[in-house]
Amino acid sequence: MCAKSFSARSFHKAKRESRKLSMVTCYDYTFARLLSQTTIDAILVGDSAAMVMHGHASTVSANIDLMRLHTEAVVRGCGDKFVIADMPFLSFRKGVAPALDAAQALIAAGAQGVKLEGVKGHEDVIQRLVESGIPVMGHLGLQPQSVHAYGGFHVQGRSCEAAREIARQAKMLEELGAFAVLLECIPANLAREITGALSVPTIGIGAGAGCDGQILVLQDLLGMNSDLHPKFARSFGDGASCVLRALADFDGAVKAGTFPLLEESY
Ligand code: KIV
Repeated sequence: MCAKSFSARSFHKAKRESRKLSMVTCYDYTFARLLSQTTIDAILVGDSAAMVMHGHASTVSANIDLMRLHTEAVVRGCGDKFVIADMPFLSFRKGVAPALDAAQALIAAGAQGVKLEGVKGHEDVIQRLVESGIPVMGHLGLQPQSVHAYGGFHVQGRSCEAAREIARQAKMLEELGAFAVLLECIPANLAREITGALSVPTIGIGAGAGCDGQILVLQDLLGMNSDLHPKFARSFGDGASCVLRALADFDGAVKAGTFPLLEESY
């Protein structure tokens, strides 16, 4: 396996140098090949694969086999990119040994780091992963694996007490050795305050412009996801129209007898 030019240490360096970090999710080889040609800093093989790639209603349907499969596919195509893989629902809540097994599977699949949601109740897991040399990204604010506890996907940290708790947990993650903290769907002021209080970078999604970096789900930023439109998920392209146009052109050409041409035949 080749050494990567970007690493967990590069996250720290970027924060020290006040350079913004860009991340996207990716779940497959084809998009990983395209991402390898960009200046995007790092890739997350998110457990959102369960929703985006498999049509599940939430990320709780992801398991370690699914995460390993998607991680392997991304790693085959991503070239030099730093790859973080999500630890799926409950895989880090059953004790240190099963969590290490789950992380081992993701690292063996080619990821360079793992991300896991929350901190309370699995501080020992985070500490052991870090001590084992596995870069750990934390994930606070809206934790999609807790969707059933929330009763939906809602902005977190709106009350003073909830905001204080998220800020406290962010500090805990830093102390436990997390190399970065993803902040999802929290008020921009809170995210800015946490970012100022941490020496490790924050990566925001729906957390405003004050974070050290931003991440989006690839299909959202490409404008390919017509089901769900949270206001933070800006489309930077019109992917769905591009795909639909190409498919309509193919269909039309086949039916008009203009595809394939002589030069497209053997
Ligand atoms: O799985 C995922 O897509 C995430 C997002 C917050 C980026 O964790």
